[in-house]
Amino acid sequence: MDLRAGQVAVVTGAASGIGLALARRFAAEGLKVVLADVEEAPLRAAADALTAGGAEVLARTVDVGVRDEVRGLADAAYDAFGAVHVLCNNAGVGSGAEGRMWEHEVNDWKWAFAVNVWGVFHGIQAFVPRMLAGGAPGRVVNTSSTDGGIAPLPTASVYAVTKAAVVTMTESLHAHLTAEGAPVGASVLFPGPHMLRTGLWESHRNRPARYAKEKPRRTPYRSLGQWEAAMQEAGQEIAFTPVEEVADAVVDGIRAERFWMLPPAEHTDRQIRARARSMLDRSAPSYLERFILD
Ligand SMILES: NC(=O)c1ccc[n+]([C@@H]2O[C@H](COP(=O)([O-])OP(=O)(O)OC[C@H]3O[C@@H](n4cnc5c(N)ncnc54)[C@H](O)[C@@H]3O)[C@@H](O)[C@H]2O)c1
Repeated sequence: MDLRAGQVAVVTGAASGIGLALARRFAAEGLKVVLADVEEAPLRAAADALTAGGAEVLARTVDVGVRDEVRGLADAAYDAFGAVHVLCNNAGVGSGAEGRMWEHEVNDWKWAFAVNVWGVFHGIQAFVPRMLAGGAPGRVVNTSSTDGGIAPLPTASVYAVTKAAVVTMTESLHAHLTAEGAPVGASVLFPGPHMLRTGLWESHRNRPARYAKEKPRRTPYRSLGQWEAAMQEAGQEIAFTPVEEVADAVVDGIRAERFWMLPPAEHTDRQIRARARSMLDRSAPSYLERFILD
């Protein structure tokens, strides 16, 4: 689609990391930006910085796991700007689950599903009917992950299950939009190909009381910095992808109407082939990696 100045982009999880990079990039392209995030102070700071740079910005504190709040976001976006052309359902959290699946707390699953799965569905429900009614070309970009979207990292399995759901939800959305002959398309984003320096490792900062842990974790949360230091000590080199590169891939992908926003990487392709081979051979998964945090 033709992405150009004056259009409107909505980004959830826009106060930090990939969402903030997307908002900056859309603003740099001259789009009006609607920033939504559950974390108020960084959201305000992001909105102020973009406004100071000359962008037209609407910022709203929203928990994407709460349907009425996402509907309120859509109302506010349409009141302010009259249209939405790009919707990035990007807000996401790590679950904080530890141990084997049968030891996980139900609230780890409930919280991760509320944000990573229901959050995307709430975005689709609140915005897509109005985007279709507007009649203009548009794009819905849902953020998945290679963890789950391609194959699960078994020690981040709750997160992986949610991100697998995002792929399937987006494939189905694509089919529904295509069946309608809609000018709005769908894409699934796999940020990468390497790790990203974002706030995802500190997701617990946004965990609401209604999904609180029932008992303290056996192992304390590790920050990205602590993990990096441990990897360095073990002599392991870690590659990172700048968030700006992800934003570039999204903008290119929107222009090219690309469904799979999957950066080229030999490692990912190997995983896809190995998983497909396992299914075609009806053989047990042998491609599952130990999570790097394990
Ligand atoms: N960082 C990575 O390596 C990586 C890799 C693959 C996919 N992702 C995905 O990218 C997306 C962005 O994450 P990030 O890495 O930039 O992390 P981040 O923590 O820097 O950004 C996520 C943002 O979402 C917000 N958020 C959390 N819960 C919310 C809620 N209920 N409602 C609204 N906003 C909420 C947070 O406040 C934060 O601003 C997520 O969906 C994540 O799963 C990240």
